Amino acid sequence: MSEEATTTHPIPAGFENAHATPESYKRMYAESISDPNGFWGREGKRLDWITPYTKVKDTDFTTGQVSIKWYEDGVLNVCVNCVDRHLPERADQVAIIWEPDDPATPARQITYAELSDKVNRMANVLLSQGVMRGDRVVIYLPMIPEAAYAMLACARIGAIHSIVFAGFSPDALANRINDSGAKVVITADTAPRGGRRTALKSNADKALLHASDKVRCLVVKHTGDQTTWVEGRDVDVLALMEQVSPDCPPRPMNAEDPLFILYTSGSTGKPKGVVHSSGGYLTFAAMTHEYTFDYHDGDVFWCTADVGWVTGHSYIVYGPLANGATTLMFEGVPTWPDAGRFWEVCDKHKVTQFYTAPTAIRALMGQGTEFIEKHDLSSLRLLGTVGEPINPEAWVWYDKYIGKGKCPIVDTWWQTETGGHLITPLPGAIPTKPGSATLPFFGIKPAVLVPETGAPIEGNPAEGVLCIADSWPGQMRTVWGDHQRFEETYFQQYPGYYFTGDGCRRDEDGYYWITGRVDDVLNVSGHRMGTAEVESALVAHPKVAESAVVGYPHEVKGQGIYAYVTLMNGVEPSEELRKELEAWVRNEIGPIAKPDLIQWAPGLPKTRSGKIMRRILRKIAENDYGALGDTSTLAEPAVVEDLIENRMNRG
Ligand code: WTA
Repeated sequence: MSEEATTTHPIPAGFENAHATPESYKRMYAESISDPNGFWGREGKRLDWITPYTKVKDTDFTTGQVSIKWYEDGVLNVCVNCVDRHLPERADQVAIIWEPDDPATPARQITYAELSDKVNRMANVLLSQGVMRGDRVVIYLPMIPEAAYAMLACARIGAIHSIVFAGFSPDALANRINDSGAKVVITADTAPRGGRRTALKSNADKALLHASDKVRCLVVKHTGDQTTWVEGRDVDVLALMEQVSPDCPPRPMNAEDPLFILYTSGSTGKPKGVVHSSGGYLTFAAMTHEYTFDYHDGDVFWCTADVGWVTGHSYIVYGPLANGATTLMFEGVPTWPDAGRFWEVCDKHKVTQFYTAPTAIRALMGQGTEFIEKHDLSSLRLLGTVGEPINPEAWVWYDKYIGKGKCPIVDTWWQTETGGHLITPLPGAIPTKPGSATLPFFGIKPAVLVPETGAPIEGNPAEGVLCIADSWPGQMRTVWGDHQRFEETYFQQYPGYYFTGDGCRRDEDGYYWITGRVDDVLNVSGHRMGTAEVESALVAHPKVAESAVVGYPHEVKGQGIYAYVTLMNGVEPSEELRKELEAWVRNEIGPIAKPDLIQWAPGLPKTRSGKIMRRILRKIAENDYGALGDTSTLAEPAVVEDLIENRMNRG
C-alpha cells in the first residue's frame, strides 16, 4: 500500500476557524460525556421550541424496559424549524438547488420563500385528503423537490412519513404501505434516471392492489408521461397545490412524537420500521451537519444520497434545512451522460462540501481522470463518505484527484438507527487516517466488546464488536409496531449496550476502524440488504427448494450477493433459469437485491441438527476454501467438496 494510504493526514489549512478545533473538540467531548444533560440541554436550543423543554435526557438501555426520551416535555414543529424560522433573514436565499437527471434540463433554485409556499400548499393538500396528526404517509418519489416538500409537509401537520426508495419493487412497496398502515401514498408518474425512466406510478398501482382500497394515491406529474388513472383514488398533487391556500398553520408537536419511519434491513425476517423522533432527531441531524461538514453560511452542500435512505433524510433535507443551508438535490446518476457528471455538477453550482459513498468513488476511479480534468473543482472545501468502509486506495484517489490534496475527507460512520453521525472526523479538529472513521462525535460512548462474552475491552488496541454505551438524541426510539423486536435486536445480546451489528478495531491512537457487519446484513453498493430477505425471495420461486445467501468482496460494490440455490427435485439448472431467478429477485425486492452470482447447490452444508453452516458458505464465496475451519460437525462433508468444485467466484 502507498505511504499516503497508511499515514496520518493533518488538518488541512483553512480550517483554523472551523466549528470544532482540536482543543474545543476535546473540551466539548469530555463535557458531553460527563454532563450529558448540560451539554444536550444547550444543544437543543439550536432549535426553536414552542414550549421549551425542562427535561433533557431520560434514557434506559436495560433489557426489558428500554426507553429513550430526549427533551420529552418540549413542544416544537420540525417544519417551522426547517423553513419558517429562516424566512425573516433568508427568504431570498436558495434553500434547495435541484439538478435534474438530464443536464439539458435547466436546474432549479428554490428559495426559502418558495420552499415555504410549496410546503404549506403540500400540507394543505394532505389535509384535504384526510391526513391527520399521527397518520402515516408513504413517499415513493424520485429525487425531485416535491420529495422534500412532502417530507416537510408531513412534519408541518404532524403526519409521519415513510419514504420507500424509488428503486424498490411493487411488492416491497406494498409491504411497507401495509406495515405502516399508511393512509396515502405519494408518487410520481415516471422517474428519469441515467436517461431511462422507471414507471413509478405503475409500480404504485401494482402495490396498491395488495393494500386497503382506502389508500389514496397522490401523483406528482413530473415527466408528464402517460399513466393509468383511478378516479376517486388518484389525485393530481401539483394541480391541487395550485388550488389550496399557501398558508397551513403548523401543528405543535411533542419532542418525542415520531417524525418518520424508515424501513431498513436486519439480519432476520422482514425489514423493520425504524422510528425517529422530532426534537432529538432534528437536534442531532442539525448539529452533526454543522460540525462534521463544517457548514458555514454561503456554502453549497451536496449529499449525493437518495432521500429513500437515511443519509438523504438527515443530510439532504433535515440537517441542512434546520441550519438554513443551501442543499443540492440531484436526480441523476454519477455515470450518465458520462463519468464526469458529479464533477460537472460541482463546478456548475460551486459546491463547497461533497458527500458520497465509497462505491461511487470506486466506480469513478476506474474511468480515468480525463472526466475530472474537464471541470473546475476549486470550490470544494471538504469531502465526505458514508455507507461502508472506504478502502485506502479509494480514499487516496478521492483525496488526490477530487480534493487536490487540500480537502479533508470525513469518513462518517453511522446507521439508519442512529439518525446521524456517531464516529466521524471533524475537519478542523481531527487528523484523518485513510479507512478510519476516527473518533466519536459529541456525546457518543463507543465500546468494543469481546463478541462471545460481551466484556468491554479497555485500552488500545482493541478488536471486537462495536456497541454504544449510552444514548444520544438522534437514536431511533422503537421499531414501528414492535417494541419487543427493537429490544431484542439492539439490546438483548449485550445487556446495557446498544449493539450496532458492526465489528471494529480501535488502534493505538483510539481511532475506530469499522470492519463490517458481524450479522447477516450485506452492504451492497452502500445499500443495506438482509441475506434473509434475498433468501425468502428466492425460495418463493416455485422451482427453488432451498437457498442460502452470503456476501463476498466485490471490487466496486464493496460486497456482492452470492446465492446458493438448491432446486426442486427434477428441475434442471440452466442459464435461462439463472436469468429467471435474477429477474424474480428484482421483481420481489428491487434491482439492488439481484444476486451477482448464483451457484447451483445440490445440497447445503448443515450441522446434524439441520442448521446451515454459513461460515463455510461465506468462505467458499470468498474463494477462500482452504480456510474452512472446523467442519467436523457437518452432516454430509461431501456437500462441501461439490460446492468448492463448482464455486462461482474464482477471482
Ligand atoms: C455501514 C447508512 C464503514 C455499517 C448511513 C453500518 C459504514 C451500515 C460506514 C449502516 C462507514 C456506514 N464506514 N461502514 N463510514 N457508514 N457503514 O443503515 O456496516 O444504510 O452498520 O446507514 O453501513 O447502513 P445504513
